[in-house]
Amino acid sequence: MITGNIFLIGFMGTGKSTAARELKKMLHMECMEMDDMIVERQGMPISQIFQKFGEAFFRDLETGLLVELKGKKNMIVSCGGGAVLRPENIGHMKESGKVVLLSATPQTVYGRVKNSTNRPVLNGNMNVEYIQELMEKRREKYEKAADIVIVTDGKTTGQVCDEIIRALEI
Ligand code: S3P
Repeated sequence: MITGNIFLIGFMGTGKSTAARELKKMLHMECMEMDDMIVERQGMPISQIFQKFGEAFFRDLETGLLVELKGKKNMIVSCGGGAVLRPENIGHMKESGKVVLLSATPQTVYGRVKNSTNRPVLNGNMNVEYIQELMEKRREKYEKAADIVIVTDGKTTGQVCDEIIRALEI
């Protein structure tokens, strides 16, 4: 039984947003997309936030949102792919819920994000090699933060969500 929040973390293109929307329906819980909330509050797309104010400013907004979420319960939160980069963010997540890591191979990720123009971290580097390199750099942080890990390659959203629910014993 879950009483806190469920945080979906993982690299870009691991299916966090899609799984969060499906879990919302399956579990009748509220859902928050961190990126969407930041975009709505700032009134501009992520690429523009990065361009105008820099990455550190965006990361501060992520931290602020995670602090806010400590006051909420029963929310499914789809985190931005870089939300684990600051150790304090992981602490905020752990204080208010369970952390679910979605994983995928660099090839799978590339297939899912290759047409995206709103992922500044991959600007000019939209290729499998770069994705693999960045994923390796972040791997330890993702794995350290995770309470459970779900591999998403070759699975439908329904299968991924069933596995999450089973693993969390909801
Ligand atoms: C980022 C991932 C993006 C978004 C921003 C930075 C990252 O979220 O927060 O572009 O550093 O991995 P998604 O994982 O939802 O694409």
